[in-house]
Amino acid sequence: MNLLITGGCGFIGSNFIHYWLATRPTDTVVNLDALTYAGNLENLKGIDNRAEYHFVKGSICDRDLTADLMRAHAIDTVVNFAAESHVDRSIMDSAPFVMTNVVGTQRLLDAALQSGVRRFIQISTDEVYGALSLESAERFGADSPLQPNSPYAAAKAAADLLARSYFRTFGLPVLITRCSNNYGPYQFPEKLIPLMIVNAMKDEPLPVYGDGQHVRDWIHVRDHCEALDAVIHRGHPGEVYNIGGGNERPNLEVIHMILDLLDKPRSLIRFVKDRPGHDRRYAIDSGKIQRELEWRPKTGFRDGLKATVDWYRENHGWAERIVSGEYQDYYRRQYGNA
Ligand code: NAD
Ligand code: DAU
Repeated sequence: MNLLITGGCGFIGSNFIHYWLATRPTDTVVNLDALTYAGNLENLKGIDNRAEYHFVKGSICDRDLTADLMRAHAIDTVVNFAAESHVDRSIMDSAPFVMTNVVGTQRLLDAALQSGVRRFIQISTDEVYGALSLESAERFGADSPLQPNSPYAAAKAAADLLARSYFRTFGLPVLITRCSNNYGPYQFPEKLIPLMIVNAMKDEPLPVYGDGQHVRDWIHVRDHCEALDAVIHRGHPGEVYNIGGGNERPNLEVIHMILDLLDKPRSLIRFVKDRPGHDRRYAIDSGKIQRELEWRPKTGFRDGLKATVDWYRENHGWAERIVSGEYQDYYRRQYGNA
């Protein structure tokens, strides 16, 4: 197969490229990434000199570039990871979210249509479904209504609807995946788990939004990659596949586990003002992908979290290098009250 991976220098995209080239070493992978603050070439160290791998710096908003790449490399499968991905940043400025997540996806869909690709995988998120209450046992199914609450989630939902329309109107073979919260190596330390690990390692405060009882459904990024493999090989165009870890945890519980793994005191925790519009609970029903595509998450949360903490311990230089001046400013604005 010849794959165009967009956003392959970010957290999930880089894990996916490592996974793909380890399991299918003769496939061609073209990685198109704009190298925003979240994109890091260091994440691809070790495979960047392989003949099957090509990196191109550029944006999914550039329709001519993406169409040229699809033609030049005879791309049969597009996997669109590229996005602005952090909810807090979308609250501070939603414009880049609309540009990349909505306009970029629309232009990439156009390029794919022109080039006649066989599969277009739109990587979406459970956040498009909105929030569940702590009291209910309800989970999001693939046909739950879209009720996004943050500008990030709204932009991802808009992209999903565009992708769906390209299937219904033009017959582009689009498959949409909606995954819950990922954790694992190479995650930028602005997201909950890596931020807490990195701060705790340095004995710095851990900012907890609101009461810390918000629930996320955590999945190891490796399990997400295996789910995408199943969707690429066995999924049906026009379908939506929800992917979840079946692992709901309140934020505070996750933070306590991290502190215990690092042997650090709970006194590092600081309760700070809540995120505006903060979704209370996410929970994914991944019954459809389990039944139809025979996928199951394999990584237990305790094991996965321990391996992740170990990875950040062993790669503390990686985190220090990517926490740039720009990020420090952002961090100060965001957590000034910590
Ligand atoms: P990330 O922020 O770590 O990486 C995003 C990557 O996209 C970066 O390498 C960045 O440089 C690149 N990028 C941004 N704008 C671009 C553009 N215009 N053109 C090309 N590249 C661009 O994000 P992530 O956490 O790896 O998420 C990847 C995808 O998975 C996103 O679409 C996100 O919505 C989705 N998702 C993430 C999670 C999660 O828990 N992180 C869960 C479900 C879905
Ligand atoms: O559910 C999938 C989504 O998960 C993805 O689509 C997004 O790209 C990804 O960023 C993630 O969104 P969340 O908002 O759930 O992740 P985040 O790591 O920002 O926050 C997780 C929870 O932790 C959330 O309830 C907010 C809380 N939090 C987060 C940070 C960064 C804190 O309490 N303190 C923090 O410092």
